[in-house]
Formats: sequence, C-alpha cells, structure tokens
Amino acid sequence: MKYPSLYVLCVLTTAYCLMASTPSLAANERNLVRGKKLYEKYCLACHGPQGRGDGAVQFDPPVADLTSSDVLLKPDSRLLKSIHEGRPNTAMDAWKSRLSDEAIRDVLAYLLTLPR
Ligand code: HEC
Repeated sequence: MKYPSLYVLCVLTTAYCLMASTPSLAANERNLVRGKKLYEKYCLACHGPQGRGDGAVQFDPPVADLTSSDVLLKPDSRLLKSIHEGRPNTAMDAWKSRLSDEAIRDVLAYLLTLPR
C-alpha cells in the first residue's frame, strides 16, 4: 500500500468515533421516527396527540402536559426515570419492562420536540 499511515489514521478515527458514541438525548442522534411510533402506540391515549395531556382517557391526578414548563424544567435524567419507573400513585405506569432503554430515550427525545 502506498500510504499505510493514512490507512491507520482512518481505522483509528473510525474506532474512536464508535467508542465515543454514548447514548445521548440530542434529537439529531436519536431515532425520532421510532420515538414517534412508540409515542403513538403507548403514550398518546393518555398524553394526547400533541402531548398536552388531553388524550382520550382522563385520570385523577391528571395526565401531565408534556409541553408544560412543569415537565420541561425537569432534567432529562428525571424524566427518563419517570418513564422507566412510573410515577407513584398516578396512572403513569413504569415502562422499563416493556420498553428498552434505547426505546425510552427515543420516545423522550421525540416528546421533547413537540411544539410548546
Ligand atoms: C394510563 C395513562 C398514561 C399513559 C399510557 C402514559 N402516561 Fe405519562 N403520565 C400519566 C400521568 C397521569 C402523568 C402525571 C403523573 C404525575 O402527576 O406525576 C404522566 C406523566 C408523564 C411524564 C412527566 C413525568 C414527570 O416526572 O413529571 C412524562 C415524561 C410521561 N408521562 C411520559 C410518558 C411516556 C413517554 C409514555 C409512553 C411510553 C406515557 N407517559 C404513557 C399518564 C400516562
């Protein structure tokens, strides 16, 4: 090969990029199409098509408006926990047995893109 060092550089760069890609909630790194599908399948009935808590089913305490500052001011890690573990004494169920960690991150990334 004419340029072996260039080849090595390419391999190392690729390896580094693969290692550095830790899960993130940045919308451009998540699968928003998958997040939207999951939202529509599992969350929409309660949270409504726009996330405003106006789904077909009503509860007491009421379903959270996912576009409200109440929810959006909570850190992502808190919201992930709410979806994983559910919210005690509310209709918000724990999803960790039904959705993978990746799926929960995708669905949260999607709902953070809903118009305020
Ligand atoms: C059976 C109805 C129901 C379904 C289905 C449901 N939720 Fe909820 N959700 C609720 C209720 C009720 C609350 C308000 C909980 C509270 O008062 O703390 C809530 C709250 C939330 C919150 C705010 C949590 C917080 O810490 O403030 C998020 C985020 C959320 N839901 C995401 C989801 C996602 C994602 C799905 C689908 C995977 C989903 N929910 C499915 C009823 C539901």
